Amino acid sequence: MIPAARLAALIELLDGVQGAALPADRVAQRYFRERRFIGSKDRNWIGDALFAVGRDLGRLRWRLDRLGRAPDGRALVLAQRHAEGDERSLLESQFSGERYTPAALDADDRALLDGLDGLTGPAAEAMPGWARDNYPDWMEAPLRARFGADLGQAMAAYGERAPLGLRVNLLKASREKAAAALAEEGIETTPMARSPLGLVAGRAALGASPAYRRGLVEVQDEASQLCALACAARPGEQVVDFCAGAGGKSLALAAAMANKGQIHAFDIDARALGELKKRADRAGIRNLQTRRIAAEDDRSGEPLPADLAGRADLVLVDAPCSGSGTWRRNPFARWQLEAADVERQATRQAALLDRASALVRPGGRLFYAVCSVFPVEGEAVVAAFLAANPDFRPRPLDGDWLAETGLKGSGEDGAALVLLPHVHGTDGFFVAAFERA
Ligand SMILES: C[S@@+](CC[C@H](N)C(=O)[O-])C[C@H]1O[C@@H](n2cnc3c(N)ncnc32)[C@H](O)[C@@H]1O
Repeated sequence: MIPAARLAALIELLDGVQGAALPADRVAQRYFRERRFIGSKDRNWIGDALFAVGRDLGRLRWRLDRLGRAPDGRALVLAQRHAEGDERSLLESQFSGERYTPAALDADDRALLDGLDGLTGPAAEAMPGWARDNYPDWMEAPLRARFGADLGQAMAAYGERAPLGLRVNLLKASREKAAAALAEEGIETTPMARSPLGLVAGRAALGASPAYRRGLVEVQDEASQLCALACAARPGEQVVDFCAGAGGKSLALAAAMANKGQIHAFDIDARALGELKKRADRAGIRNLQTRRIAAEDDRSGEPLPADLAGRADLVLVDAPCSGSGTWRRNPFARWQLEAADVERQATRQAALLDRASALVRPGGRLFYAVCSVFPVEGEAVVAAFLAANPDFRPRPLDGDWLAETGLKGSGEDGAALVLLPHVHGTDGFFVAAFERA
């Protein structure tokens, strides 16, 4: 593809991303799937450029807003190329209107570029924090509640692209063996900083990797690996993964149990559970069963299984959430989120935790997790749960994994794990542990 054609594709993709309910990476995957003629080099370039726009979206939107231009794909690309220092002559030649290139620059575009020239220097200093640090204005308070004075630093860390995290499946290989198998296929990895099961890979086409297909590794961010380690599932236990989805954590728990005991993977989403079954087969897991359950307010699906009530040794509630911990992967997602969405999520999380807690046996463990950094989805849910359920108490995090990872439990009781992109280099994540009296 000539560079101008790449820009045309980027504009088209940005328009798709901004209008879609799906996360940006899913929209991009679909976009490329439908355009097989776009080769891998061009795909990588366009993917990187998409991420670069997402990382700068606050700044770009603020500038476009000041200049009275809607933030559509074309305006965003022009503003971004301008910010990157592209000369006007280059933009004139790339936005030429020739075949496969963006439509030729018109009077509005030239006025935009003139306006952007005027928004550098002292004018740029008027940029408010939300624009500079790339978050919607309303999020200032909930983000400050977590990051305080480190907000700028934290948001800068969200601007770093997340690496491809892999978890080694100990049922099939040690970390060293898995790394060697991948290296033989030309996929170089390095050990993760904290997770003893983790490898970090560069940009790898994993789908075609025999090591991946044989189940030696699974794709999983370090924060999720640490969450599963914190649960410390033991061989022989009855474990419920209440919001199992496609099973990232179920698979990690099952591997820790060495195929002894039972994992009950619940979800309301039958399609995700179907995917989990396939992954479990690939990973050589034999102690896992999936079960579609009905949401609290849905009478059409299966109710909670009565046979497990008060019997599980360990219940994990990896609840649906705002996803505010995952913005390194989906830089656009923060702009699709409204304050009311976060409130709604918090209400649902409280209901889910309450419901799932009935499955824990006396003396058993309960874990609550969200890939969010908003305290209203973390500490506030925990406090409300403890106030309403006196038979549960916080359970300080323990186990060899803690010492190995150099992490400490946070909160008064050391019963929570708060992972942050600018501190730990992981997704933002919150885990809390409880014990039933
Ligand atoms: C954060 S995702 C789970 C990710 C998964 N644990 C993993 O590690 O890959 C949250 C899951 O909760 C499920 N969910 C939503 N509402 C639910 C409910 N009322 N009961 C059980 N699961 C629910 C969603 O379908 C989604 O799969």
